[in-house]
Amino acid sequence: MEGFGCGFQRLNMLRAEPGYEVVQLLVGNMQNFSYIISTEGICAVVDPSFGGRIISGEVRRRKLTVEYILSTHSHFDHNHDNEILVREFGAKVCAHSRSPIDKAVAIEEGDSLKLGGIQIRVFATPGHTPDSVCYVVPGGIFTGDTLFVGTCGRADLPGSDPKSLFRSLKRLSALQPDTIIYPGHDYGATKTSTIEHEKMENPALQQRSENDFEQFVLG
Ligand SMILES: [Fe+2]
Repeated sequence: MEGFGCGFQRLNMLRAEPGYEVVQLLVGNMQNFSYIISTEGICAVVDPSFGGRIISGEVRRRKLTVEYILSTHSHFDHNHDNEILVREFGAKVCAHSRSPIDKAVAIEEGDSLKLGGIQIRVFATPGHTPDSVCYVVPGGIFTGDTLFVGTCGRADLPGSDPKSLFRSLKRLSALQPDTIIYPGHDYGATKTSTIEHEKMENPALQQRSENDFEQFVLG
């Protein structure tokens, strides 16, 4: 995988609810976002992507340990460096039970993970892939390749299902308007957004029917 691991590009400390902190890292050359969610000396990493070494350095600098790797789906650009954090911190990879990736915790719709005092809820959001999940934290959601700022994940890949993606996006639309969206790629005008903003600006959330949505995503 030479050529993909070009490492850290940007690190932003993001606004988060009291009780935890989110660091966003732009890694690799596919505009992937990784996230470190930290609280009480521990953290979870959402999609290490190609950022394993830089994440490891940042985690050590903050004197944290990685409890979980939260995988949003099985595409390699999101999971490339999982093994680095497993090896260095004994992190447990969490992924949907349908996911083919190596995992310690098989998760399902409605499951809850505890990170210190923070509850992380699992939304199964199939569509981009059958194993796509979003992780809901107080005030925010990590959307992987299901929802981006200004658009949504591709639905024309092997295993994609536009109708499922439409239903998954409807579900995200129903979250509290001020919920912060932490997307899996840097594809938008901003690095994060909110449900309210995306409902106003993102055409992927404005399609009225499964058929309309199918036309929108498949052209
Ligand atoms: Fe993907």
